[in-house]
Parts: sequence; C-alpha cells; structure tokens
Amino acid sequence: MSVLGLDIGAKSIKVAQLEKRGDLFSLLAAGVTVTPGGGLDSENEKDLNLVAEAVKKLLSDAKVTTQNANVVLPENKVITRFVRLPYLTDQEVDSAISWQAEPYIPIPLSEANISYQILRRVDPAGGKPGSVEVLLVAAAKSLIQKYMKVAQIVGLNPLNMETELLALQRSVAPQQQTVALMDFGSSSTSVGIVRNGHLALSYTVATGGDALTRVVAQTFNMDFAQAEQYKRTYGLDTDQVEGKVAQALKPIFAGIVDEIKKAIQYYKTEIGDSNPVAALVLAGGSSGLPGITSFLTESLGVEVLIGDPFSRITKDQPLDKSFLAYAPMYGVAIGAAQNQ
Ligand SMILES: Nc1ncnc2c1ncn2[C@@H]1O[C@H](COP(=O)(O)OP(=O)(O)OP(=O)(O)O)[C@@H](O)[C@H]1O
Ligand SMILES: [Mg+2]
Repeated sequence: MSVLGLDIGAKSIKVAQLEKRGDLFSLLAAGVTVTPGGGLDSENEKDLNLVAEAVKKLLSDAKVTTQNANVVLPENKVITRFVRLPYLTDQEVDSAISWQAEPYIPIPLSEANISYQILRRVDPAGGKPGSVEVLLVAAAKSLIQKYMKVAQIVGLNPLNMETELLALQRSVAPQQQTVALMDFGSSSTSVGIVRNGHLALSYTVATGGDALTRVVAQTFNMDFAQAEQYKRTYGLDTDQVEGKVAQALKPIFAGIVDEIKKAIQYYKTEIGDSNPVAALVLAGGSSGLPGITSFLTESLGVEVLIGDPFSRITKDQPLDKSFLAYAPMYGVAIGAAQNQ
C-alpha cells in the first residue's frame, strides 16, 4: 500500500507518495508547486477551485499513482492543547475529554471536531495521585469540510487529517529525545515540543518568510521578487553587504524567538519532565535562510539542526538532486505520508 501526503501551504503545495516496506518507507513520488490565488485561507469558492486544479496538475506532473491521501490542516487554524487529567482509565479519558475540552476551545463544541492522543500515564507514586497526559486537538467542522471538498474535486480518497506539526514530527523529530520543532513557512511559524516522537504542545506565530521579504523590500526600497533574492542570498549572514540585510531581518525574529522560549519554558514548568529540550529542529522553506542556525543557537542557547525528512526513507532510484534543494520544505508532506 502507498499513501500520499498533501501539504497545502500559503505559498506552496507539497506532495509526497510513500510506500511502507516493513519498518521503512520508500519514496515513490514527490513534487512542489506554487499555491494559486488566496490559497485555502480564502473562503472564496473560486480560490478553492484554483487550489484543487493546482493540486491535480501537481499530482499528474509528479506522477503520483495513488488516490489514498493524508491531508494536512494548518496549525494556526487548529487548536492543539496539552491537558493533564486525573489518573483515569482509557475509557474514562474518552468520556472525560468532551467536558474537559470545552474551556480550551473558542468555538462551540457542536461546530468542532475533537480528537485526542494519550501521551503518557504518570502512575501514582510517593503519595502523588498520578495523572494522564493528553494532547487535545480540535478543528472547526467547516475547516475540515473545506479540505474534504478540495480532496473531492481532485479525486482523492482522504484517509486521515492532522496538523502540520503532528505530521512533521514523524519525518524529522528524533524518537528517543525531547526537542523543540519549528515549521518556518511563508505566512506563519509553528513551534512545538516533541517528546519521544509525540507532539506535546504547539504554538503558532503569524510571522513567516514573507514578513522577512517585506522588511528587506522596505529597507532597500526594492520590489518583492528582488527582496526575496536578497533574503535568500544574504539572510542573517553578517559578513555580507556590511550585515545590512541581517540587521533588517533580525527584529522580525523577536516574536518567533519569544514563542520558542515560551514553548520550552512551558514544557519545563507545566509538563515538568526530567529530559530537557535537547535541540531545536527546523523545517519549512524559510529554514533555508543563510545563517539561521547560528543565529537561533545564539538567541536560544540550544543546539539548532535543520531536519532532513529524506533521511529516513529509502529510494528505489537515486533521488533527483532538485528535490534536495527543497528538503526542509517536504517535511510536512513526507511526515503525513508516513502515517500508514
Ligand atoms: N533558501 C531560502 N532562504 C530563505 N527563505 C526561503 C528559502 N527558500 C524558501 N524560502 C522561503 O520559504 C517560504 C516558503 O516555505 P514553505 O513552502 O515551507 O511555506 P508554506 O508551507 O507555503 O507556508 P505556510 O506553512 O506558512 O502556510 C517562503 O517565504 C520563501 O521565501
Ligand atoms: Mg507550510
């Protein structure tokens, strides 16, 4: 059996088709294309159709051979919360979750689709009562319907839907460690903490690579396309053009860096675990920014790595080199396809 991972981002659509062989995955197809119009952020029927047409063309160009798809939902539109419940049985957790969910969810429960994962049971010990740690995930039914509609127009058979970070942790996060995970996209950045291969919490900030390009355009009075080239060429490298691009970009990172610190702090104090956050793993197109790993290492005081989603899959033929330039972009689509 093989499954397609479909990641419709604000700027680009990514797909990857993987076949499971024992414990390994084999890459059958992958591709990327520009997201047309207002993407799926738009409520406009026309934009939805444009996106569906773009996906259809991409599937054909990339020679995808399955209709079975795991579809990714945007992190910033889905509520993902760490919840600690009393020491309940699995069955009790299941019935407790709906009433526990209410205070966390800003939309009426009747309009939400709620799911959860049990992350860990902490057994009672030393006079402490024990607890069950749960990741609660809630999405508006209307959001799910929108993605179902796209799948239907494209002719896909949706098997599973999950958020970007839930998919991404599968392809780039280590299984035996706690790490911070960052999806640095175009319109937003998501930050999560992944403990032993399970997402424990996630935050999103409405700042991504486009904000970086805009500030370069303003500072140097150039158009967006040229600013994009400047950004990709010089980035945060202080040795280039007297560090002027880096100087313009750095303030945009303040909100992102704060969010990562907040996530690490929350994990430390609220989830309280003996394993500290060992590293920050980066993914998403904007993690290609020159100088980003050393900048974030300095700002956060943790090791920063760029995740390679291709490292855990085998290829029948040598992988086309053009994919590798975009490796960090494929993390979400590959992780979604690994869910089989
Ligand atoms: N080499 C690079 N250096 C810096 N930024 C880059 C590079 N390559 C791509 N980008 C940026 O990556 C972003 C696109 O990445 P990606 O495809 O992960 O976003 P997306 O998934 O469409 O967006 P989102 O996740 O916010 O919906 C753009 O902002 C682009 O400028
Ligand atoms: Mg994305």
